[in-house]
Amino acid sequence: MAIWTPQLTGRHGPKYLQIVEALAEDIASGVLPPGTRLPPHRELAYALGVSPNTTSRAYGEGVARALIQGEVGRGTFVRAPGGARPEGDPADMRRPTTGPIDLSRNLPCPGLAATTLAETLAALGRGGGLAALTDYQTETDLAHHADAAIAWLSRSGIAASRHEVIVTNGAQHGIFCALMAATRPGDLLLTEALTYAPIKAMAERLALKLASVPLDDEGLCADALDEICRSHAAKALYLTPTLQTPTTATMKPDRRARIAEIADRHDLVLIEDDVFGPLKPDRPQPIATLAPERTVYVTSTSKCLGPGLRVGFVRAAASLAKAIHNAVGLTCWMPAPLMVEIAARWIADGTAERLTDRQRAQAADRQAAAGALFADHDMRADPHGLHLWLKLPLDWSADAFKAEAAKRGVGIVDGAAFAVDPGLRPNAVRLCLSHEADKNRLTRGLETLQAMLGEIPADSSLVI
Ligand SMILES: Cc1ncc(COP(=O)(O)O)c(C=O)c1O
Repeated sequence: MAIWTPQLTGRHGPKYLQIVEALAEDIASGVLPPGTRLPPHRELAYALGVSPNTTSRAYGEGVARALIQGEVGRGTFVRAPGGARPEGDPADMRRPTTGPIDLSRNLPCPGLAATTLAETLAALGRGGGLAALTDYQTETDLAHHADAAIAWLSRSGIAASRHEVIVTNGAQHGIFCALMAATRPGDLLLTEALTYAPIKAMAERLALKLASVPLDDEGLCADALDEICRSHAAKALYLTPTLQTPTTATMKPDRRARIAEIADRHDLVLIEDDVFGPLKPDRPQPIATLAPERTVYVTSTSKCLGPGLRVGFVRAAASLAKAIHNAVGLTCWMPAPLMVEIAARWIADGTAERLTDRQRAQAADRQAAAGALFADHDMRADPHGLHLWLKLPLDWSADAFKAEAAKRGVGIVDGAAFAVDPGLRPNAVRLCLSHEADKNRLTRGLETLQAMLGEIPADSSLVI
């Protein structure tokens, strides 16, 4: 096979810089895609009729400009555009690689989409159409993004038409817009007794009253919901039936059906947060499939593809969808079209499914490691989940455990942070397994906590 030979005709200046210029052009035009192996510098020198010194200097400059990179024993390769390092390189991630170990944030494994993103950005650059992506979008421009949303939702069993889908800046934005659309100040919002913490702040901002429904091992208790709805005129219920935060519970089909039936009877809007759902292929059908007229289904690409994309998808019955669409307009006009375009391409060409599979595999691997360490403890987890819920022995209070963990360099969240009722203080902590980029750091953090479980806390006399 012919080696890459830069075209130097018509170029001026030092030879090595001419080579770098040609290299940059060929990378930008796609002649040299990311990952291409360049010829050894001696071979290139021979082909160009220059000294090996010149090609070696050119490659050195190419590395300095982040166009190429040398890999020991393998050769010199074209880097991803923008100077992105190879996928998974901790230096390319903002997550800490030294200092305290962070098990407090429920994010997916980092870096798995970096190389793919580089390729997609290069393809976008080559393909044109970027002017449209930097403009305000019309309904027509947005149609293929809505189609991507429909395709993504259909994988969760959700059928949607273009009038029923709304693209948002992630699930958080979708939930907030759903609350803006479905409630008025003073309305009563119900949640699970332990819930995704930002819901409390959202309710406060929207001047909603908040009341919580008890949980059991399967999630929100249907009987308790029915009882609360009989005595209070609740407007909406926010819940996470799959891989619940923080308890990891996934609700079975009959419980989902009961909740749909209770919501119907009490005219309750359901806001079903399925942000983790796509990670769990064996989960039951969303409640939205059982009560499509009254359920706002919210999901996103954050846990499967990468939270930095900020792409969320919402499905609601057309009348509510319009109000949610207006709330999106009010809060941000529209999600950044470039980001949605990236997600849309990944959904259409199978990349999204592949990246989701990789997150699942990482989650399973990390859950297995944690499961082995905490096998003798009271713990709830799911092989597809990104976190676990660790119940503490009586010697430890959750606050004391969290404080001691922090002293030993491990960040975790105590159960009370998720409680709607300030009087509810579950003696448990949430451990997030995927935020740390380096699995060794995760293992060290988990081992620190496991050792603590076997100790009597210094101030145990205070614990009752
Ligand atoms: C339960 C739950 N819902 C929603 C979100 C928000 O997700 P997004 O990044 O798509 O806004 C998160 C993020 O951690 C979450 O844990």
